[in-house]
Amino acid sequence: MSVQTSDIDEVSARDFAPRLLAWYDRAARVLPWRIAPGSGAVPDPYRIWLAEVMLQQTTVAAVAAYFARFTERWPTVADLAAAEDADVMAAWAGLGYYARARNLLACARAVVAEHDGRFPDSEAALRALPGIGDYTAASVAAIAFGRPAVVIDANIERVIARHRLIETPLPLAKREIRAALAPLVPPDRPGDFAQALMDLGATICTPRGPACAICPLLADCRARGRPDIERLPLKPPKKAKPHRHGLAHWIERDAQVWLVRRPDKGMLGGMRALPGGEWTDARPSESGIAEVDHGFTHFDLTLKLVRREPPPETRDAAAEGIWWPISDLDAAGLPTLYRKLIDKMLERDG
Ligand code: ADE
Repeated sequence: MSVQTSDIDEVSARDFAPRLLAWYDRAARVLPWRIAPGSGAVPDPYRIWLAEVMLQQTTVAAVAAYFARFTERWPTVADLAAAEDADVMAAWAGLGYYARARNLLACARAVVAEHDGRFPDSEAALRALPGIGDYTAASVAAIAFGRPAVVIDANIERVIARHRLIETPLPLAKREIRAALAPLVPPDRPGDFAQALMDLGATICTPRGPACAICPLLADCRARGRPDIERLPLKPPKKAKPHRHGLAHWIERDAQVWLVRRPDKGMLGGMRALPGGEWTDARPSESGIAEVDHGFTHFDLTLKLVRREPPPETRDAAAEGIWWPISDLDAAGLPTLYRKLIDKMLERDG
C-alpha cells in the first residue's frame, strides 16, 4: 500500500503556519526592533529596515547595542540621511561588512530624495533602493508592511531544509526551499511568520543539538528522529581561504597616534584606520610590536604593528589623516581588526 504523500503534505501545509504562530504568540523573543505579536502597534519601517540590515550575518546579541545607539542618534530616516558619512561609518565600527554602512547611508538618502522620506511598501520598490537585496526587500515588505513576501535567511533555510528533508546541498537547495516555503506564508501575518521561523531557527531548530522535543513543528517534520539532522541543510564543500599579510604603522607624537581614512573602495572602505601598506601574500620579515589574526569572509589576514617615526611636519597639513589622542581611541570608530591590534600592543605596553 502506498502512502498518499500529497494528502499528508496538504494537511501539513495547512497546519504549518497556525502551529508556528501559536508557538510564536507564546514564545516570541523580545527584541528592540520588534512589534510583539498581538500588540497591535504599527511598525516603523525605518527601524525594521535598520535592524534587518544590521542583522545580516551578525547575531541578535551583537546588534542590540548598535541598534539602540543608531536610533537614539538618528531617530528617523531623514536624520540618518542628513548625517555626516564619517559619523555613520564610525558608529558602525565593529559590526563588520563596512560596504553595508555606506549602502545604508545611500539608501536613507534615496528614501528622502526619491520617496519623500517614506520607505516604499512593496518588495519590488524596496529592492530598487541602494543596498537592499532580496532578503532585505522581502523582510521589510513582510515585517513593516504586512506583504506576503517569502523571507529566507540562514535560520529559515535550516528550518525548512529539515522540515521538508531537502537533501540538495546549498546553494542549489535555495530554490527548493523557496518553493516549499512560498505556499506556507499566511497572508494575514507574513511578518510574524518570518520572525517566528527566525526565532525557531535561533532557539529550537539550532545548527547543533536541536531541541526537537519542544518543537511546534515536530509532528510532520521529515527529519524528525534522524541521527544526521544536524547535517541539514547540506553545505557545499569548503574552499580553502587564502592567507594575507600586512603591516600597520604606529606613529605616535605627544600621546597621539596618526590615523588615516581608508579609500572608499575595497576592504574596510571609508573606515578610519592605522596607516600601512598593501595586504599581500608575502609575510613581512620586519619584527613588530604586536600582531593579530583576523578572519574576513574571503581571506584570513595576519596584521603586524610596527613603529614608525613621527613624520615630518608636512604630515600635519595633509588632509588624509588626523592625530588622535591615544586615551580616546574608543571614539575613533576603528574597525575591529585595528582595535584588536592596538589592544594587544597597549596590553603589552601597559
Ligand atoms: N534576524 C534577522 N532579522 C530578524 C528578526 N526580525 N528577528 C529575529 N531575528 C532576526
